[in-house]
Amino acid sequence: MHKVETPQSEEEFEAYFDFRWQMLGSPWNFPKGSERDEYESVSEHRFIRDQNGEVIAVGRLHFNTPEEAQVRHIAVSNDLRSKGLGKLIVSALEAVARANGVQRIVTNSRDTSIEFFESCGYEVDGNPTVELGVLNRQQMIKRLTEMNAIMLHPAWCSELQKTWHETIPITEQMGIKLFQYSGRTLEARASLNKNVNLHGTMFAGSIFSLATLTGWGMIFLQLKQLGRDGDIVLGDADIHYHKPLTLTPRAVCNIETLSAKFAVLDKGKKCNVKLQVDILDGDTPVAEFKGIYWVLPPRKEE
Ligand SMILES: CC(C)(COP(=O)(O)OP(=O)(O)OC[C@H]1O[C@@H](n2cnc3c(N)ncnc32)[C@H](O)[C@@H]1OP(=O)(O)O)[C@@H](O)C(=O)NCCC(=O)NCCS
Repeated sequence: MHKVETPQSEEEFEAYFDFRWQMLGSPWNFPKGSERDEYESVSEHRFIRDQNGEVIAVGRLHFNTPEEAQVRHIAVSNDLRSKGLGKLIVSALEAVARANGVQRIVTNSRDTSIEFFESCGYEVDGNPTVELGVLNRQQMIKRLTEMNAIMLHPAWCSELQKTWHETIPITEQMGIKLFQYSGRTLEARASLNKNVNLHGTMFAGSIFSLATLTGWGMIFLQLKQLGRDGDIVLGDADIHYHKPLTLTPRAVCNIETLSAKFAVLDKGKKCNVKLQVDILDGDTPVAEFKGIYWVLPPRKEE
C-alpha cells in the first residue's frame, strides 16, 4: 500500500526536490534549481516512496491567504501514472488545507493536467496564462465544502454513509464514518472509545466490522462508478491481527486490491469480488482483512 509522507531530513528533501526537477523541470530544459521558489520554507511538502525508498510522487501546498491555499508541483513517475498516486498526494494536501480552515484551493494547471484536476473536483476558473514563456496554464479552483473537501462523488458517499447507518444501525453506535474517497482509495474511521475492550484497545470484532463495511463500501462505490446495481453480501473473510489498536482506527481499501468481473451482472449472474482492507492505527498497519463478497444481480420486476 502506498503511503503519503512528509519529507523530514535534508536527504529526503534533496530526493524530493530532485524528483520535482526530473519530472517538471528537466523535460523543459529548465536549469537545476528552477524547481524551487521562495515559498518552499513556508509550504507543506508531501511525497510517496516505493519499497526501495525511491521517490515516486510529490506535491506541495502553500497558503496564499488564510482562506486560500495553492496546490503546486504535483508529479508522479511516468511508469506509475493512472494508479491513483496523483490523487493520493492531492487529497493529502487538501487534508492539510482543511485542517487549517481554508475555504478554497487553487492551482495553475498545465493544459495536460486539467482533466486530472477536474477528476479531483477542481473547476477551470479564469483565462489561460502563459508562464515561463512556454507552458499554458489555467487557473483552477476547488471550494471546500463539508463533503467535497474529502470525498470524490460526494452524493454517492452521502448515500453510502446513509445506507450504513439506516440498514445497519450499530454502525452509528460504533462511530463508523466515511473519511475519504479518492476514486481509488476508500477510507473509513471508527471511534476507539465506542469500541474499546477491557485492555483499552479496540475490540477485535469491531475491527472486523469496520473492515467488512469498508470493503462493502468500496464495492458499492465501484458499482455506482460503473452504473451497475446489485445486492452486496460478504461470502468469506480472513483477518490477521498483528498489533493492538490503541489510538485512531482507520480502514483503507485500495482499488488495486480489488478483483471482480462486474460485467457478469449484466447477464443476470452473481459476481464474485475479492479485495483487501488494511486496518491502521494512525499510520501503523495493525490488521489485514481479505474479503470475498458476492454482488447479486438486481431482481427482475415480476
Ligand atoms: C497529472 C499527474 C500528476 C496525474 O497523476 P496520476 O497518478 O497519473 O493520476 P491519478 O492516477 O491519481 O488519476 C486520477 C484521475 O485523473 C485522471 N487523469 C490523470 N491524468 C490524466 C490525463 N493526463 N488525462 C486525463 N485524465 C487523467 C485519471 O483518469 C483518474 O481518473 P479516475 O480517478 O476517475 O480514474 C501525472 O500525470 C503527472 O505527473 N503528470 C506530469 C506532471 C504534471 O503535469 N503535473 C501537474 C502540474 S500542474
